[in-house]
Amino acid sequence: MLIKTAKFTKSSASVDQCPVTKLNEYAFIGRSNVGKSSLINMLTGNKKLAKISGKPGKTQLINHFLINEKWFLVDLPGFGYAKSSKLDRYKWNSFTDKYVKDRENMVNLFVLIDSRIKPQEIDLSFMVDMGENDVPFSIVFTKIDKITKGALAKNIQIYKNEMLKIWEEMPAYFTSSSVKKNGKSEILNYIEKMEMG
Ligand code: GTP
Ligand code: MG
Repeated sequence: MLIKTAKFTKSSASVDQCPVTKLNEYAFIGRSNVGKSSLINMLTGNKKLAKISGKPGKTQLINHFLINEKWFLVDLPGFGYAKSSKLDRYKWNSFTDKYVKDRENMVNLFVLIDSRIKPQEIDLSFMVDMGENDVPFSIVFTKIDKITKGALAKNIQIYKNEMLKIWEEMPAYFTSSSVKKNGKSEILNYIEKMEMG
């Protein structure tokens, strides 16, 4: 799919403030610094669209970007930021929690996972919570430019084994690098399929 236009629409601190729309939304979540904002910029081919930072906790609000005047990409604040990462359950602001659970036009939530590290309790408990609340999600393993192909395959297998202890099947998943632009066509094609219903 070709992205012709990508426009920042609004930053919101509550679901009530989010754009009033029936257009579909595809949102990005995951621990702080995992690469959510970078992935949105890579997908849209605009390095300046979403704000990125080397320091965790950059994105603090719900950010809507209108794509091709037809659907939204939504950048969300990360969870597990700073000291709360010591907790084994994920912790984040309540408006983000409400957004992912209540937003009726959110068609899919991309849960970003750092491809370099072993499964973390915080990510697993987050996905369990999404499953229990019937939130449709898929996984993106990020920053694959920082790991060898062999190590990536091994880490994904470890992840699958861990997921299959909880679920009957592995959710749809992708691998990405915002630096090398890996995963772009796969993720956009996946969205296109959902757009076509
Ligand atoms: P918060 O908004 O704080 O929750 O973080 P985020 O998940 O939006 O992460 P962000 O996109 O701001 O990126 C965090 C850091 O990781 C930045 O220094 C990025 O340059 C870097 N980064 C993101 N994606 C990649 C990637 O695919 N490869 C590499 N090597 N670095 C990446
Ligand atoms: Mg961000």
